[in-house]
Amino acid sequence: MERRRKVFVAQPVPETVEAYIRNHCECEVWKGPERIPRETLFSRIRDKEGVLLAGVRVDGEFLEQAPQLRVVSNVSVGYNNFDLAAMKARGVAGTNTSGVLDDTVADLAMGLLLAAARRIPELDRHVKEGLWQQGDDEILFGKQVHHATLGILGMGRIGEALARRARFGFDMEVLYHNRNRKPEVEKALGVRYAGFGELLARSDYVVLLAPLTPSTRGMMDESAFRSMKSDSIFLNVSRGETVKEEALVQALQKGWIRGAGLDVYGREPVSRENPLLGLDNCVTLPHIGSAVAGTREDMAMLAARSMVAVLQGRDPGTIVT
Ligand code: 8YV
Repeated sequence: MERRRKVFVAQPVPETVEAYIRNHCECEVWKGPERIPRETLFSRIRDKEGVLLAGVRVDGEFLEQAPQLRVVSNVSVGYNNFDLAAMKARGVAGTNTSGVLDDTVADLAMGLLLAAARRIPELDRHVKEGLWQQGDDEILFGKQVHHATLGILGMGRIGEALARRARFGFDMEVLYHNRNRKPEVEKALGVRYAGFGELLARSDYVVLLAPLTPSTRGMMDESAFRSMKSDSIFLNVSRGETVKEEALVQALQKGWIRGAGLDVYGREPVSRENPLLGLDNCVTLPHIGSAVAGTREDMAMLAARSMVAVLQGRDPGTIVT
């Protein structure tokens, strides 16, 4: 009989997922509700071959605590928390949850776009604060969405799902910028490739969906915001560190752009002192791109299956290292 592998699950997961893991492994689970402190995590992974987590930095220090480790399974599609070189050097596989959250995150991106364009949160406050009066008219105006131009930075699976919504749901023209061109996506969805500068200059809405890497860190800086149309709206559903936040604050305060919608920040949870929170032309969400129970369960189950597969010597198809 195959030896039962020891694994650590560093966050609460649905019962179905825990049961699946227990079926295959000897498993300890951190039940929260607070995030596991790093020192506690380190003390729990010493004898483990697999760890399932999200948003925890997996670097040389982490790997040193877990000499038996063979796989770290992320409950997220982004894997900027992995120090890929350190993991590779130690022969530790890292996996992500690509494919199960695309539509959910694209729904949120479209919602954020609509919310910022039509000022939905701001005008909701207007009504609830009793400010709605006869004669209010132009002060309630927003920005047109249908038939406008959407620029997508980062055309992965979520970008494609958003492009479909924009093209076929809202008749938008869609430009995209990506490391590599995607002729099959261009053909299927009728989207057009553009250079970074051209996309910024031509889009009414710019959505950032690129993963956080050394080359995307801080890509939306002062010069990028200054290249956008003054009536345009910027949206970030990727990682906060892709944006220089001080530059975005200036862009919003000085009218270089019309508005923004953010799901992610340089520091999360975002500080109350962050000037972005004081701007009516900035819609702020608490990193909820994939936050729907069914999607989170699918993500946790995929992460669990990936971890078990690696420990059984199979390729889960989700390895990113
Ligand atoms: C997760 C995300 O909510 O998948 C990602 O990369 O940003 C979100 O879907 C987050 O990582 C926590 O699991």
